[in-house]
Amino acid sequence: MSRAFNFSPGPATLPEPVLQQAQAEMLDWHGVGASIVELSHRGPEFMQVAHETEADLRTLMAIPDDYAVLFLQGGATVQQALIALNFADPGQATDYVITGHWGKTALKQVTPYVHANLAADGEPGGFRDIPARNSWRLSDGAAYVHYTANETIHGVEFRSANGCDIPDVGDVPLFADFSSSIASEPLDISRFGVIYAGAQKNLGPVGVTVVIIRRDLLERAGQPRAGIFDYRAHLKGESMLNTPPTWNWYLLGLTVKWMLAEGGVAEFAQRNARKSALLYDTIDTSGGFYCNEVATAARSRMNVPFFLHDSALDAAFLQESTAAGLISLKGHRVLGGMRASIYNAMPEAGVQALASFMRDFQQRHG
Ligand SMILES: Cc1ncc(COP(=O)(O)O)c(C=O)c1O
Repeated sequence: MSRAFNFSPGPATLPEPVLQQAQAEMLDWHGVGASIVELSHRGPEFMQVAHETEADLRTLMAIPDDYAVLFLQGGATVQQALIALNFADPGQATDYVITGHWGKTALKQVTPYVHANLAADGEPGGFRDIPARNSWRLSDGAAYVHYTANETIHGVEFRSANGCDIPDVGDVPLFADFSSSIASEPLDISRFGVIYAGAQKNLGPVGVTVVIIRRDLLERAGQPRAGIFDYRAHLKGESMLNTPPTWNWYLLGLTVKWMLAEGGVAEFAQRNARKSALLYDTIDTSGGFYCNEVATAARSRMNVPFFLHDSALDAAFLQESTAAGLISLKGHRVLGGMRASIYNAMPEAGVQALASFMRDFQQRHG
């Protein structure tokens, strides 16, 4: 049986060497006579996995010591709720910059208990661009400014000529949802108060979420909350207040080791740039057969939504691409059309195969 090139937006394709290693270690992890997922999370074996994973992630992403790293459950959506509970005092404003579906979700999570100010909104423009920084209306005394580094559905990413565009919001801590672009290129973590990301796109499997927090923020009182919603308590409990998702954490660890062995985030930045450039070029040179409507400067390197000029061809495109071993290209129901998610683990050969399929399909149906 051969593996397809899988363009799923998340859970997403994993590196083959990671899957092979997990398979080889499935019945007997490192000679202990059991799978890692059958052992106590507090035993020496899993503690080794947990500590190595954190150390490796710190190396991979150059996370400074004054940042805590948590491995939590609940996905990115739970973190969207927890950030306001932990870091905004009752009545304090929080600022939200919305550039797509997930930014809207983030704002909705906090409206029950803080004032969430819509500082900038790309929705009137159909989420095809990032509102210019000088149009943002930030609040005085905001607890933080939140934005989504890469909008997975709309394919909109904060970019600048040098790579990632980290907005300047002065002294207010910048909080960012990096679910679909974490570790896809070098990033200056020190510019952020909080970064969070579900692992299921660029870091490995679903079921574990990475939260990176500047430690001084943990001294904030925030809102009244149960211990299980408290980041300080999670840190003190080494991300083990719940029985942690050990299998997912272990797979994340293998994926991070694989990324380090491949050359780290600098290498993935180059691969990701080449992959996305090839796809956008295929779309832009199709004479309108395919189109992507996102402003060029804000086009995502990770998720490339595109439309066929005639939506009556969508079913044939999906059927033929699947038959050609290119799977999960159907666009999100919010947008329709197609979407190719090309995270770190998508090989360049996969994007090359997709680009030539697209050209071939156009010739046959154009
Ligand atoms: C950018 C972004 N934020 C948040 C989420 C929600 O993540 P989760 O399902 O892990 O809660 C997603 C899921 O695709 C996402 O892409």
